Amino acid sequence: MKTDSKFQRMVAPERSPQTVEFFWEGKPYTAHVGDTIAAALLAAGVDHTRESPQSGAPRAPFCMMGSCFECRVQVNGEHNVQACMNVIEDGMLICRQTS
Ligand code: FES
Repeated sequence: MKTDSKFQRMVAPERSPQTVEFFWEGKPYTAHVGDTIAAALLAAGVDHTRESPQSGAPRAPFCMMGSCFECRVQVNGEHNVQACMNVIEDGMLICRQTS
């Protein structure tokens, strides 16, 4: 798992958040209950979540509010899921979108 993420959580030390496990590209990661998929992926150190179908350029969450559509991923086999607009769930299978 990557740990060099520039996206860092602000959690009070006395709080111990509940967690869920999800899978990114087949590897297990942990997220906080209530995280959006985008927040969970960024906190896990994922550097890009899809690739442009035209150029293959890496793309990643940008606006975090549902406007740019750069965060689209595949979730449990469903394409074009906006990662910033959906809450992560235990056992989710998330993959980079390449088409
Ligand atoms: S990050 Fe812009 S729509 Fe999700």
